[in-house]
Amino acid sequence: MTIGTYRTVKVEKEDGIGWLYMNRPEKRNAMNPQMHFDMDAVLPEIEGDPEIGAVILTGAGEAFCAGQDLREYFRGLDGDPMGRRRAGEASERWRNRRLAGFNKPTIAMVNGYCIGGGFTQMLCCDFAIAADEAVFGLSEVNWGILPGGLVSKKLTDTLLFRHAMYYACTGRTLDGKRAAEIGLVNESYPRDRLKEETVALARELMEKNQEVLRATKHAIRAVRTMNDDQAFDYLAAKGAEIKQRDRENAYANGIKQFLDDKSYKPTFGAYDREQAIRDNQAAE
Ligand code: COA
Repeated sequence: MTIGTYRTVKVEKEDGIGWLYMNRPEKRNAMNPQMHFDMDAVLPEIEGDPEIGAVILTGAGEAFCAGQDLREYFRGLDGDPMGRRRAGEASERWRNRRLAGFNKPTIAMVNGYCIGGGFTQMLCCDFAIAADEAVFGLSEVNWGILPGGLVSKKLTDTLLFRHAMYYACTGRTLDGKRAAEIGLVNESYPRDRLKEETVALARELMEKNQEVLRATKHAIRAVRTMNDDQAFDYLAAKGAEIKQRDRENAYANGIKQFLDDKSYKPTFGAYDREQAIRDNQAAE
């Protein structure tokens, strides 16, 4: 499947991974309105592409994302309420809806600066892996706004209250190692290992049964705002949904491979999906 070409966004496909680049390296991948429109359009294309099993979102060049474009997104739209609305809606939609609700695993690979509004897409990905040398910062307090959109919300959903308050109110920067210590990202690695470690995580995720993984990632995100009764009900419904959608029959094959074939232990990795498909065919 061919994915369209976009002005501010680049997609490369490699061994089942969709590499999605914010692509304005000369502006440190600051998000202008065009980038929001491009992202809003490309994400459904990637989601529907059968050649892509996982997405890695990263920045072209030396930065991940320098936040909203102060020239084009802020000053440029100050006198243009309709333009602001259109860009604002696209800005929220591609990150808080499309990315956060994506049906395939998503990993933010934070290669350099991740500033202000750039936190949102990093936090909307299921996972984040940073270079030790990456620089994170909530600069808003330093220039006259607060971490708006949904930055403050996503931040406090992710971090302990004390850390969220501290970094939002001081604007102090932190590197990848510190980001991993406080749980802002999953892991941090020296820059020369960043790509291989991020790809290793993507591969591990792609080995899982994709319906089970999809339901699990949506559930982990969704139950955070539910009470126990709601969560119990929701998880039961998601479990039933897996049975309905899963053509590989993970449940029966996983148990068979452990109990009967003794060919794997669920504690240490995914069941053999190829074997499961062969067994399903033999049973038909
Ligand atoms: N909006 C608009 N332009 C931006 C930008 C942003 N958020 N971030 C960087 N740029 C532009 C710079 O104006 C510069 O443009 P120019 O070459 O036309 O002068 C270019 O990108 C390179 O930026 P520069 O500051 O020279 O790069 P650097 O590597 O020395 O520093 C940053 C990178 C990210 C530390 C610095 O650019 C910065 O602080 N940017 C603002 C980040 C911010 O506060 N974002 C919050 C938005 S919610």
